[in-house]
Amino acid sequence: MASSLLTLPSTFSRLNLFPKTFKALNLLKFHKQHRLRPLNYPLLHFPSAATRFSTSRSPLSSKPFDDDLVVLGIETSCDDTAAAIVRGNGEILSQVVSSQADLLARYGGVAPKMAEEAHSQVIDQVVQDTLDKAGLTEKELSAVAVTIGPGLSLCLRVGVQKARRVAGNFNLPIIGVHHMEAHALVARLIEKELQFPFLALLISGGHNLLVLAHDLGHYTQLGTTIDDAIGEAFDKTAKWLGLDMRKSGGPAVEQLAQEGDAESVRFSIPMKQHKDCNFSYAGLKTQVKLAIASRNIDAKVPLLCASSQDRSSRADIAASFQRVAVLHLEERCERAVEWALKIEPSIKQLVVSGGVASNQYVRARLDQVVKKYSLQLVCPPPNLCTDNGVMVAWTGIENFRVGRYDPPPPANDPEDFMYDLRPRWPLGEEYAEGRSEARSLRRARVHPSLTSLVQASLQQQ
Ligand code: KG4
Ligand code: ZN
Repeated sequence: MASSLLTLPSTFSRLNLFPKTFKALNLLKFHKQHRLRPLNYPLLHFPSAATRFSTSRSPLSSKPFDDDLVVLGIETSCDDTAAAIVRGNGEILSQVVSSQADLLARYGGVAPKMAEEAHSQVIDQVVQDTLDKAGLTEKELSAVAVTIGPGLSLCLRVGVQKARRVAGNFNLPIIGVHHMEAHALVARLIEKELQFPFLALLISGGHNLLVLAHDLGHYTQLGTTIDDAIGEAFDKTAKWLGLDMRKSGGPAVEQLAQEGDAESVRFSIPMKQHKDCNFSYAGLKTQVKLAIASRNIDAKVPLLCASSQDRSSRADIAASFQRVAVLHLEERCERAVEWALKIEPSIKQLVVSGGVASNQYVRARLDQVVKKYSLQLVCPPPNLCTDNGVMVAWTGIENFRVGRYDPPPPANDPEDFMYDLRPRWPLGEEYAEGRSEARSLRRARVHPSLTSLVQASLQQQ
């Protein structure tokens, strides 16, 4: 773990706990400047690492000083340019999302260069609108949080550059956020009773993760996808069925599936013979493609122009695909709950988040799974399941509270500045029992996991 840390360029932020000298000199200044109440603020006590972890276990809403914390969150990891301002007590002061739905509809997927351009065009306006909606200026912020990975490098860079400009110009601390941790933690903003440890299923366009959240910054990965994520399978199914992709493929498939017979097309459930918690959606995608071809469905004919027979045949495929895609989730979740209860017997909730978690069928089926184990299902509302700035601001708040942030950057980065971007960045270490033999899993791990970085930082304290 330590050796992998040393391989990082020295200019990279490591999500370090704030260096002590900087803390001592500058935190008082921050507190004065941002009207935080120093006596109540836990960072001024410089607690030990162990104390910091126990701090994050306490109920979140009960600290009066939290109201003073106001964090701007910026998210540009994929195709949504999003920003939000959230208070330490969880109050959402404003949020803005500019989506690239028209690009998605045109190209049937995210083209990194186009996405970067689209982010660059709107980022200043999105952040300005977020400030205006909240009725705040940058001077009134306590910190800036920004997604630094995983995601598309070109897109991440736009958000990080903007965050550093705001933080640099207004002398604000900056927090680098893990996109998938943010998807999980936003559930703690919604459900104030949700405490660590909990189990989380994170399902989006690029990720399919089952993680055990032991604590802030401390995750065990029980399962991941060995090829495609479920959201990618929804998007391709929508594209091949000729559906309107303007709100992304998932919602279009979900809507059409309501008209179809979910038992009519016999797709096989992926990885039935593998008794682990990993996922695979590439094979199901191929099955869908073949089913569409065998029924002579022409994706160039929009659904609205399809004959009633054609429409019902598309609906049957949508419903059958959705049923099997979700059966795969159900089967993996059941096993993950059993594993999780062995590792952390006190877990009480399954959090389901990420874009696909806004699907009502997914929610209903997973609710049945958790009921068997007397657990509670926690799903953020749909607009906080899909990519948004609130989850980034909130994760910034959770990290800021326990001292995990970086000092304000310089007002202007040099031209050749190496941004700390982590396009492939695991959340936690793999659970040994769940290790897949699929080689792609190994190769995908290019950055030390968030958990290993946080643990190494804590050991250096
Ligand atoms: O989390 P997210 O907004 O972005 C990523 O981090 O990928 O997830 C986007 C994914 C897309 O694949 C989209 O089709 C899917 O979430 N999605 C849905 C639904 N809403 C969004 N999938 C199924 N049903 C939905 N209602
Ligand atoms: Zn996402």
